Amino acid sequence: MTTVTPEPQAHDAGSFPVTQDLAEVRFLTGISIVVPTYREVQNIPLLLERIARLRRDHDLTLEVIFVDDDSGDGSVEAVQASGHDWARILVRTENRGLSPAVIDGFRTARYPVLVCMDCDLSHPPERIPQLILGLNAGQQFMIGSRYVPGGSTDDDWGFLRWLNSRIATLLARPLTQIRDPMSGFFALRKADFDRARDLNPVGYKIALELIVKCDFENVGEVPIEFRDRVHGESKLTFREQLKYIQHLRRLYLHRFANAMHLAQFLVVGASGVVVNLVVLSLLAAFGLPDAICLAGGIGVSVITNFLLNRRFTFSYAKNGPILRQFAGFLGASAVGALVSFSVSMMLRTRALFDVAFGLQLAALCGIATGMIFNYLGNRYIVFRKTHVRR
Ligand code: GDD
Ligand code: MN
Repeated sequence: MTTVTPEPQAHDAGSFPVTQDLAEVRFLTGISIVVPTYREVQNIPLLLERIARLRRDHDLTLEVIFVDDDSGDGSVEAVQASGHDWARILVRTENRGLSPAVIDGFRTARYPVLVCMDCDLSHPPERIPQLILGLNAGQQFMIGSRYVPGGSTDDDWGFLRWLNSRIATLLARPLTQIRDPMSGFFALRKADFDRARDLNPVGYKIALELIVKCDFENVGEVPIEFRDRVHGESKLTFREQLKYIQHLRRLYLHRFANAMHLAQFLVVGASGVVVNLVVLSLLAAFGLPDAICLAGGIGVSVITNFLLNRRFTFSYAKNGPILRQFAGFLGASAVGALVSFSVSMMLRTRALFDVAFGLQLAALCGIATGMIFNYLGNRYIVFRKTHVRR
């Protein structure tokens, strides 16, 4: 029986017993390894060679599915030339991208355990058995991690890329506790994948997408030594990193729907305060009377608040009838706006506000009072609790 040396201990994010007996891996029906590729012709034979050795050493039933975005660099021929009947390549011509490629690969996989890994030899195929053992021990998702004891990354990454990766990981913290959710090396059951609803993968972070959308709770990490690629180039561009922010927003919305609506509403509200003050100050700079400045600030900020709320906070309604929505929004904000205006005007007549930035100060007090009115009005009138009839 083959046994692994105890050194690469699986780190328990969810705590599970680690059996070191690799013979158990054999009891699985089979493993589908999905490898997204774009211009990896040089790496394909090298990766296949290492997987072939693994397959032989552990007597594994497996298939390798390269999912290529029409690289046209001889990748197809390279897979064919390998002569392995357990390796095939799928060429995609639409909806380019790493995550959609992985999803397509998973969909055509024929075995009950799915593994995803890069083609550039950054991820050691020799760690696949550890990933599978984690699943056998009851984990729902196993990830190869650079940031658990025993894991590492090549140092020539440079400070900026390291920092970038750490920040990206930190931003994902509320979604998952694992140390390296950015990793593209992981395993899960096909049955769990098939149950995933509303997968919407943008960009690179396919593992994070799956953990959140499949609601995985038991996620384990196996330390890996992440190697920088030797052949070819990384495709992780700045544009991909911007997509990550968009991806995070969607995942937060998915996981924290209600809190996210409130948070976005508050952020939009805060932006409205800034817009209000800027407009008001501009009008004041032209020497216009206070009433006009205050009304202008309020008017413009109501419009930007409306547009931003429509686009972001309540984006599910962004294709609804804009005029009717605007009328409703005006109705809902009218009392608050009026209170804000009146309070500011009143305060302005007081000597206390006859100072530098007195107009802005009065406006802020008005906005605060207006917000309280808005809140109370909504709480006790618009959305009041209905009385129980006797
Ligand atoms: N089909 C397809 N389409 N494959 C792609 C695409 C694409 O648009 N872009 C990249 N790939 C493939 C690459 O050929 C490689 O096999 C794998 O996806 C990872 O791409 P790299 O370009 O090597 O990414 P990286 O090394 O910068 O990113 C690595 O680290 C990230 C975390 O820092 C990967 O492990 C990522 O998965 C990981 O998120
Ligand atoms: Mn890479």
